[in-house]
Amino acid sequence: MTTNGNESRVEAGQEEEREVVLSVRDVTVAFGEKTILENLSLDVYRGEILGFVGASGAGKSVLLRTVLKLVPKQSGTIKLFGVDVDEVDDTQRLLLDTRIGVLFQHGALFSALTVLENVQVPMREYLDLPRKLMDELAILKIEMVGLPRDAANKFPSELSGGMIKRAALARALALDPDIVFLDEPTSGLDPIGAADFDELVAKLRDTMGLTVYMVTHDLDSLLTACDRIAVLGKKKVLVEGPVSTMMQSEEPWVKSYFRGKRARRVDIDARTRTDA
Ligand SMILES: Nc1ncnc2c1ncn2[C@@H]1O[C@H](COP(=O)(O)OP(=O)(O)O)[C@@H](O)[C@H]1O
Ligand SMILES: [Mg+2]
Repeated sequence: MTTNGNESRVEAGQEEEREVVLSVRDVTVAFGEKTILENLSLDVYRGEILGFVGASGAGKSVLLRTVLKLVPKQSGTIKLFGVDVDEVDDTQRLLLDTRIGVLFQHGALFSALTVLENVQVPMREYLDLPRKLMDELAILKIEMVGLPRDAANKFPSELSGGMIKRAALARALALDPDIVFLDEPTSGLDPIGAADFDELVAKLRDTMGLTVYMVTHDLDSLLTACDRIAVLGKKKVLVEGPVSTMMQSEEPWVKSYFRGKRARRVDIDARTRTDA
C-alpha cells in the first residue's frame, strides 16, 4: 500500500495501485420527497487532495454529512479504509472516528475555550491521556498549522479569520487522522489568506501523507492545491479528474465554472503573480 503523499500521486497508468481511503458507491440521499443525491459514486485515494465542487445547494455538505453518518442514506455503500461504515460495531466505529478529522462548513471554534482547549476537545473525547501530554500534543498541532505558540492561550475572539481557520484545522488534526474533511475551509478569507491555507494543506499532504477531501468554491484552490477534482451536479458526480479534465470537459456547468469569465480572471491573476 502506498502511504506517502507523493508516491500516491502517480501517473494515470498506475492508478490501480492507489489505496482507496474513501469509497462511495451508488449513494442516494433524500429528505422527504426531495432527492439530493442519487446513485452517487466517488473514490478518494490516499495522499491526494480531492477538491469537491458544485453549485450552491447541490448537496456537497450533505454528502460529507452522509459519509460521517450524520445524515441517513436511502441506499448505497460507503467504505472508509475498506470498512463498510454500516457494518462496524461500537469499538470499530470509535477507531474509525479517530482516523477522521473534520472541519465543518460553519464549524466555529468554541468561543469560551482557548485555542489549546479547542484542539484538546477531540483528545478528551477519544483518548485518555495525562494533562501534560495533552498540552504537549496540542502545542505540536498548533505549531504544525503555522500558528505561533502564544496563540495557544488565546480565545477565538482574539484571532484573525485566517488564524481561526488554522486553529480549526489543528483541532481536525488532533488525533492524527488519515483523512481530513474540509467543508469550504477558505470561505471568508481574503485571497492571500486562502492561498496560505491551501499551501498549508498541500504541505500536510506532502509531509504527513494526509488525504484531504476539500469542498470548495475557490477556483484558485481547485487549480493550485487539488490533485483531483470532482464536480457535483444533477445529484451525482458529473465529472471527475485532474484540472486538465476540467479544462476539456464540455459539461456546461464545468465549462462555465472553469473556463467562464471568472475563470479567466483567476488565470490572469495567476499570470500576474508569476510575472511579478
Ligand atoms: N437536514 C436537512 N433536511 C432537509 N433538507 C436538507 C437538510 N440538509 C440539507 N438539505 C438540503 O439539501 C440541499 C443541499 O444542501 P447542501 O449539501 O448544504 O448544499 P451545498 O452543496 O451548498 O453544501 C439543499 O437544498 C438543502 O436545503
Ligand atoms: Mg455546503
